[in-house]
Amino acid sequence: MASSLKAVPSQQAQTAKRSVTVLGSTGSVGANTVELLLKHRDRYEVEALTANSNVEKLAEQAKVLGAKLAVVADETHYEALKAALSGTGIACAAGAGAVVEAAERPADWVMAAIVGAAGLPPTLAAARRGATLAFANKECLVCAGPLMMRMVSDHKATLLPVDSEHSAIYQVFDAKRRDGISKLILTASGGPFRTFSLAQMADVTLEQALKHPVWSMGAKISIDSATMMNKGLEIIEARYLFDMTEDKIDVVVHPQSIIHSMVEYIDGSVLAQLGTPDMKTPIGFALGWPDRIEVPAERLDFSKVSTMTFESPDPVRFPALRLARESLRLGECAPAILNAANEVAVAAFLNRKIEFLSIAAIVEETLDKVPNCTLADLDTLYAVDAASRRFAEAEIARRSA
Ligand SMILES: NC(=O)c1ccc[n+]([C@@H]2O[C@H](COP(=O)([O-])OP(=O)(O)OC[C@H]3O[C@@H](n4cnc5c(N)ncnc54)[C@H](OP(=O)(O)O)[C@@H]3O)[C@@H](O)[C@H]2O)c1
Repeated sequence: MASSLKAVPSQQAQTAKRSVTVLGSTGSVGANTVELLLKHRDRYEVEALTANSNVEKLAEQAKVLGAKLAVVADETHYEALKAALSGTGIACAAGAGAVVEAAERPADWVMAAIVGAAGLPPTLAAARRGATLAFANKECLVCAGPLMMRMVSDHKATLLPVDSEHSAIYQVFDAKRRDGISKLILTASGGPFRTFSLAQMADVTLEQALKHPVWSMGAKISIDSATMMNKGLEIIEARYLFDMTEDKIDVVVHPQSIIHSMVEYIDGSVLAQLGTPDMKTPIGFALGWPDRIEVPAERLDFSKVSTMTFESPDPVRFPALRLARESLRLGECAPAILNAANEVAVAAFLNRKIEFLSIAAIVEETLDKVPNCTLADLDTLYAVDAASRRFAEAEIARRSA
């Protein structure tokens, strides 16, 4: 598979304002993006913002940024959005189709920051019209990696990673001399339960799982970090983004989260990108690309960095990593089965329906039982996604009966 990664062109000052759409503007990544857009108002103008249901925040963002359009995916919130934007001249719309239409509008740059596979249709819509896509919504690549990379390549879209790990790799990945690259090394913080025994992990609460030791993030990715499924999803994301096989993607636990990831070359050199753990830095990298823009993130003060430690992830306490690798080796729709089961299991844990350790168990059961099939097209993918969700829901009901 040809990689869509492009070598970074030489620095050119941006002259015209870049038009921007933010899918998922009310979330953690979305709100950080909005903060950077406000800081750099002279460089950007906002085409559209989208959310699922948080009308109040969406309307506020649309007004302060002077967006042309605000869209809420959940149609039951349409009247509230219309009322909140009345008299502003900002157009509004509702429904999943309207989110796709927002992505189709002619913005130069689109932030894909919806959580979960729900972000796939609008992200693909932006790729289909050849947009520059700042890509946070990793579940899209996990579900539809080969289809999405083909679409990016066919329509000459540009994919800029936003995940801090993939942004780090992108910055030190010599795309012109990829034969010289021996492996990618993703760093992981280890999450809130890095030092917990399996017995302790059996009793953890939702509040403990949501409290990430380093990063401030949305609920779903916080739980994914606690199970380390987040790193599993990132292995799959890296496989497609950088066109590296699964056996050439390592994971190392680095609790301080200062090194955001590394690339090892065949001569033994390891190149890394470092910084304080603040998502504004990788978002700012994608927003400014190919230039660099000023980002209000705390600077790394090496006189205060007393230790940087590294350890191997524990496959017994964190089976999600093994499951993600297995799904990649199985290929075709297996990563989509893994992702759908994980989304359902994490939602059940967030709703206090299952225990923490059941998340990976439900994913394993679903991956084992739902038949894999050829990833022929999007319809096949959506059918497998739905079947996996039904299976995982039934498994949750069975466990809580
Ligand atoms: N947070 C981080 O630091 C971070 C870092 C790296 C990668 N990522 C990835 O970035 C993505 C977003 O993460 P996040 O932490 O920002 O999530 P989040 O805080 O939960 O925000 C999710 C956004 O998606 C919207 N949304 C949710 N369901 C939707 C649906 N069905 N249709 C349309 N919009 C929907 C939400 O709208 P409402 O607010 O109205 O619900 C919100 O704007 C995830 O894929 C995550 O893995 C996040």
